Amino acid sequence: MHFFKYHRNELFAEDVAVKALAEKYGTPLYVYSYNTLLRHFRAYSDAFNDYPHIICFALKANPNISILRLFAKYGGGADIVSGGELYKALKAGIPSQKIVYAGVGKTEEEIHLSLRSKILMFNVESEDELREINRIAGIMRRKAPVALRINPDIDPETHPYIATGLKRHKFGIPIEDAVEHYRIASSLKNIKVIGIHKHIGSQITKVSPFVDALRSILLLMDKLNAEGLSIQYLDIGGGLGISYKDEEPPVPEDLARNLIPLLKGRKLTLIVEPGRSIVGNAGILVTRVLYLKKGEEKEFAIVDAGMNDLIRPSLYSAYHRILPVIRKQRSAVLYDVVGPICESGDFLAKERELKEVKRGEYLAVMGAGAYGFSMSSNYNCRPKAAEVMVKDREHFLIRERETYYDLLRNEKIPSFLK
Ligand code: LLP
Repeated sequence: MHFFKYHRNELFAEDVAVKALAEKYGTPLYVYSYNTLLRHFRAYSDAFNDYPHIICFALKANPNISILRLFAKYGGGADIVSGGELYKALKAGIPSQKIVYAGVGKTEEEIHLSLRSKILMFNVESEDELREINRIAGIMRRKAPVALRINPDIDPETHPYIATGLKRHKFGIPIEDAVEHYRIASSLKNIKVIGIHKHIGSQITKVSPFVDALRSILLLMDKLNAEGLSIQYLDIGGGLGISYKDEEPPVPEDLARNLIPLLKGRKLTLIVEPGRSIVGNAGILVTRVLYLKKGEEKEFAIVDAGMNDLIRPSLYSAYHRILPVIRKQRSAVLYDVVGPICESGDFLAKERELKEVKRGEYLAVMGAGAYGFSMSSNYNCRPKAAEVMVKDREHFLIRERETYYDLLRNEKIPSFLK
């Protein structure tokens, strides 16, 4: 459910014509719908309302400060994976006591910064990391709050690049080794064990992998309790998948209805770290058709957004719906929708049937709000796109388009080359 709809064949973001936004701010342009973001965030907080919980938005999906600010205002926390994300979460006004920190490669500087900021907990991914956090906390005379990220070896049935919960993945601690790791953790002087964490993957379109993973984590929790270790925070990792094409994923309410009964009688605070399902369908990427080119075998629509703006199709063969900003009665054509980047892998869609498009017309790449801008780069010296938030009839620039100067900002010429 989102607020990008046609009115009389013209695509609107809430009550604003997308074409007007493209003309005002230029393209490629990310457009987010405030009311969609809020609705999706609330879908999670309402669904888990009957159980103590924190919705920790996964910053990696979209770390724009205005988006973070919106969730902060409605009680959201943050799931972070770097010092940069910590910095942005705090700047956005997310309380440090609602921040959880995952990731297999936390540096000394990042651990130090997190301890100083008094985050809720580190989701620790290895024994080495545990000992390093213990060492740094010791120097700082702090006790570091930790959860261990447990890898429950459950197949999330998603794209291999975004599955994380199997034995062969680099993430977490294998469930067979969990008790031993908890013993080590609780023997370390500057560590305070408070939680358990798991995240099995992203774009999961069924409830069952969540249920299976939670069941095995709860069994582990019982073993830990039997050893006298009490866990207060249960972090179940990322949220649900979304509909990019014809998927019919469950909604947060389905997730809560299946998970909460399993937690009955346990005094825990549940942490959920959704990213994609909150921002994914709340954002689109608007692009302009630059040229049309008829190859011998294919017809290309060459647009001004490339893999540097949205890498998901190139990297994961991801499908994103492409809609005309102005809908016309025209015949259908099979296009490869490609960007200006010098790579054959630079495409937004392959062999996609669209109504014939003409030069200068705008297209909307749907479902681009998650892992869109956040994975964008300056490849081919392309300034990053602008981002706009629409709320009812109003629109706000929430990130300026980068300039050519931005491309040079951090570069230096050594004196011998001057
Ligand atoms: N928590 C942890 C520890 C994670 O690693 C992730 C995502 C999330 C939460 C959020 O999961 P979500 O609710 O968004 O499914 N770039 C890829 C997705 C990578 C996901 C990485 N981790 C893509 O564009 O599909």
